[in-house]
Amino acid sequence: MKAQEMYLKMKARLEKIVPDVELRYKAELAAEIIELKREKNAVILGHNYMEPALYYSIPDFVGDSLDLSRKAAQTEKDIIVFCGVKFMAETAKILNPTKTVLLPSEKAGCSLAASITAEDVRALKREFPGVPVVTYVNTYADVKAESDICCTSSNAKAVVESLKSDTVIFLPDEYLAANVARETGRRIIFPALAPTLPSPIRPPLSPHFEVQKWGDERGVGGQGRGQVMIGWRGRCEVHEKFTVNDIEAVRAQFPDVVILSHPECSPEVVAASDFSGSTNAMIKYVEQTKAPHYLVLTECAMGDNIAAANPDKDMLRLCSVRCPHMNEITLEDTLNALKLNRYVIEVPEDIRQRAYQAVERMIAIG
Ligand code: 13P
Ligand code: SF4
Repeated sequence: MKAQEMYLKMKARLEKIVPDVELRYKAELAAEIIELKREKNAVILGHNYMEPALYYSIPDFVGDSLDLSRKAAQTEKDIIVFCGVKFMAETAKILNPTKTVLLPSEKAGCSLAASITAEDVRALKREFPGVPVVTYVNTYADVKAESDICCTSSNAKAVVESLKSDTVIFLPDEYLAANVARETGRRIIFPALAPTLPSPIRPPLSPHFEVQKWGDERGVGGQGRGQVMIGWRGRCEVHEKFTVNDIEAVRAQFPDVVILSHPECSPEVVAASDFSGSTNAMIKYVEQTKAPHYLVLTECAMGDNIAAANPDKDMLRLCSVRCPHMNEITLEDTLNALKLNRYVIEVPEDIRQRAYQAVERMIAIG
């Protein structure tokens, strides 16, 4: 595709979102990427959090974590370029061991994925033998390998219910666990000293002491007295920052605003919102409803992407909160990823095989 053709395509979508001077520059990069993608028989997957110029130019598929895992599982291309973060690229590799999976930046991590180690999961399994382990897809491959099934924000409730077990270990997002506990009518309890700091900088766990003493107990469940979820104190550094005060302040200024939140936000924020769902679910909600204003409590770039697709709708944004990891992925880095075949994602085969089972079970649950 020629740069001019790409520029016109991007302009049609992004005229009101991205200044023309930036569009022209990015259209050249995007056109070069499309050319290389064709030459190298690559597919580009783009998460909903990608910045608008990238989101609306180079991906073959855009979507939420579950969607993109499904696309990764179906591709016949030789190379998968993942415009997202490392745990997503690892999931693509778990599903496609013979393909080359590239992540355009080495710095695209995730605070949730960093909050738990495989040894932490093994300690919990020793303490609760036979209790099924669900891990959020926002974890690294060795953690997935320790779990029975993975989930994403779009199928977490269905995954927990599919297990038909009174007790479920649900890792590592404290807030997602609390939100799913509420939806499934369960109590949630946390090991007393489960860390709140990212694993590389927190002191090592002492499993027997930690998991035998219960910490607080969030009574978010209610009716399901016998049904318990065992959580972990991981959090998304983006979604944990949204507060009920933010919501109240926005509602005071825009009384008819509709507020959507990702389930990685606190249960209090979710309860104060009008709708909560995965990134795909929020996009669909805005598409299918008509309100004077919308505010999406999630990575800010997604507000831009929704605004571009819905020019008749007014999207408010709280852009002081950004995902530094998703923002590492740029058109420049994606071009270099294809040119220089970097950064190649590898997962050791023994870990991959065990993680594969958990990811495949997740993909089967809609
Ligand atoms: P989704 O699965 O809803 O796309 O969310 C992924 C994510 O990282 C949210 O912070
Ligand atoms: Fe991780 Fe949060 Fe960024 Fe999603 S938004 S990739 S959960 S840090």
